[in-house]
Amino acid sequence: MGTVHFDYDGETVIVTGASSGIGRAIALRFGEAGATVINADVREEPKSDGEPTHEKIVDEHKGTAEFVHTDVSKPGELEAVVEAAREYGGVDVMVNNAAMQHSEPFLDVDQEAFDELHHTNIRGYFFGTQAAAKDMIDRGEEGCIVNTASISSEVAQHDQVQYDSTKGAIKMITKGTALELADHGIRVNAIAPGQIATEFTEGWSDEAQEAAGEGGFIKPVPLGRAGFPEDLAGPALFLASDDADYITGELLFVDGGWTAI
Ligand SMILES: NC(=O)c1ccc[n+]([C@@H]2O[C@H](COP(=O)([O-])OP(=O)(O)OC[C@H]3O[C@@H](n4cnc5c(N)ncnc54)[C@H](O)[C@@H]3O)[C@@H](O)[C@H]2O)c1
Repeated sequence: MGTVHFDYDGETVIVTGASSGIGRAIALRFGEAGATVINADVREEPKSDGEPTHEKIVDEHKGTAEFVHTDVSKPGELEAVVEAAREYGGVDVMVNNAAMQHSEPFLDVDQEAFDELHHTNIRGYFFGTQAAAKDMIDRGEEGCIVNTASISSEVAQHDQVQYDSTKGAIKMITKGTALELADHGIRVNAIAPGQIATEFTEGWSDEAQEAAGEGGFIKPVPLGRAGFPEDLAGPALFLASDDADYITGELLFVDGGWTAI
């Protein structure tokens, strides 16, 4: 059983929503692999203990990292963070990861909540990809996009139709942009996490970690444990790497086998 050591020395990576959870784990792993990392998030501090992601990269890996306050629901702010990456030579990898969760019965969902969720989860990925791709094309560089999709891109869950519909859209944004950007040598792929213990899933994560093997989730996880943010980091770095050079438009499920049932 080997361990993969990625080398992203000299590459610039933007990760949206990297202040906590999955985005943070991905950003830290890119930092460890030598990349310059920009965390584009609406807040700088992690919700749980610990120093901000960019500071941790600088302190632990002696790398280059910064925080750029970014609301991904606003395309102009995504263009601004891509512009900020120009200072480091331009964006090589864009990880569209920031998203909101919302759980509510379908019949109770109002239009305001719907718009907020869809603007963050769909506009964020759509225009994040567009801003990064334009920058790569302008510079004549063949970069990569990695989107954080979900098992909800494929499987419906109770009271989740709003969220599930955004994750279904992210699947098709991934495939559609992979098709349109292939001529420019830009690959677009997605990681699709299962049930991962993060702030996102606050309230159930402790019990879930214990109960995972016993059906504590909506259905049991075949691998018998909850997922952790770090489980997503290797797959994200793999999809962005040259080892994945012939992979585009793909969703890689990282769910302990959950969607295999
Ligand atoms: N945790 C899970 O079980 C799970 C499962 C499947 C998919 N996902 C996906 O993984 C991704 C990350 O989720 P997580 O569990 O790490 O969540 P999290 O809540 O731990 O982190 C989300 C981050 O996004 C940021 N964010 C929220 N709205 C933003 C906005 N408008 N602009 C910029 N940043 C914003 C938050 O500040 C936070 O730092 C999301 O796309 C989510 O849909 C999570």
